[in-house]
Amino acid sequence: MSVRTTMKDRTVRAREVLARCDALANFSEDANSLRRTFLSPPMHNCHTAVAGWLKSLGVSTKIDAAGNIRGVYPGMDSASPRILIGSHLDTVPNAGKYDGILGVVLAIALLEELEGKRFPFAIEVIGFSEEEGVRFGVPFIGSRALTGRFDEELLGRRDRNGISVREAIQQFGLDEKRISEAALANDVLGYLEFHIEQGPVLEKLGRQLGVVETLVGQTRLALRFLGRANHSGTTPMDARRDALAAAAEWIVAAESYALKTHELVATIGSIEAKPGATNVIPGEVRLSLDIRHRSDEVRTRAARELTELAEAIARKRGLCSQWNSLLEQNAVHLDDFLTGQIEAAIRSSGCEPHRMTSGAGHDAMILAEKVPAAMIFLRSPGGISHDPAEAVLVEDAEKAIEAGVRLLDGLASSQEFLGRKNRA
Ligand code: HGY
Ligand code: MN
Ligand code: MN
Repeated sequence: MSVRTTMKDRTVRAREVLARCDALANFSEDANSLRRTFLSPPMHNCHTAVAGWLKSLGVSTKIDAAGNIRGVYPGMDSASPRILIGSHLDTVPNAGKYDGILGVVLAIALLEELEGKRFPFAIEVIGFSEEEGVRFGVPFIGSRALTGRFDEELLGRRDRNGISVREAIQQFGLDEKRISEAALANDVLGYLEFHIEQGPVLEKLGRQLGVVETLVGQTRLALRFLGRANHSGTTPMDARRDALAAAAEWIVAAESYALKTHELVATIGSIEAKPGATNVIPGEVRLSLDIRHRSDEVRTRAARELTELAEAIARKRGLCSQWNSLLEQNAVHLDDFLTGQIEAAIRSSGCEPHRMTSGAGHDAMILAEKVPAAMIFLRSPGGISHDPAEAVLVEDAEKAIEAGVRLLDGLASSQEFLGRKNRA
């Protein structure tokens, strides 16, 4: 099994990976921090940079109707099946440089490492247009186009400026009527995603790379507490229907519920009090709830009990509460064969792999509905993510490249893998 590049060159390659992530971080909707949401103007710049790197490899790219950038590195012959390697190019607000982006840049680095070598499969690099769910409240818009989960309801969702997904696609210069053309063909052998761990586990264990066995399920809800706006100076405390005080009581109760439920995480990431003036008792509060757990039963029970708790608190205070679901995503167990192959490739790179569960959601959980999917985690120094302090170590990027090359070599010589066809 050749390793092709000397370690010195690979260090240069790894440094270039991080430098490219730095370069893409310049393409932001905000002047002093990184925010690049679904089909925002800076995504055009991102596409241009990614297309340029792939073009240098002789790989032409296209932007599909969901805004995913895609380029195919050919296999040994035109009838070769393909594997997909990718991640997302959108970000959260005030983002780090590596969440998602690293997976696309590492995929390109792997192709560069091949130095023209061909496999019995083509390699399609994909930069998904949207995974975080920031602009339209629902995640995985890009990867859902590949698995046929793009529907009228999604096209009709509106952002806070009233622009629909359909209009956003049109404004980006794409044709939403061609979304179906983005769907996977039936020649896909598997999907691989490199991603930062975004948590503390690998660093605590002193491991560089992890292999993901399962991604926890997620529920995302939008809640409203509806009370009565009134004058802050003239309204006695016992005559108020204060939506923000109700929401505050519920938020603390939700935190204590999660603290008492093993491995459950519950987060209220956004809250908006209306009308939002110092001297007006908030009549309405809108807030988000993000609940995650490896057990779908625990997660769905938590969602039910926390919405019931919101109703009870509202009723006690003379208010009412409403909620609607933004996402119901079951936990996903990734492909055991690919996971084993990744583990062997990491080990043959001189690293001790760590099998783990992902607390973060990833496009791999969407692709896994259609094709065998697997993920390789890189250590997150400080365990930080979704923040500018997000980091990746050069030596970990270097190991990821080496493990990736060994993984491709292993898959290329595996009849079990090459004989597979994706699940219809
Ligand atoms: O929210 C998540 O789990 C991921 O970062 N999109
Ligand atoms: Mn993220
Ligand atoms: Mn991500």
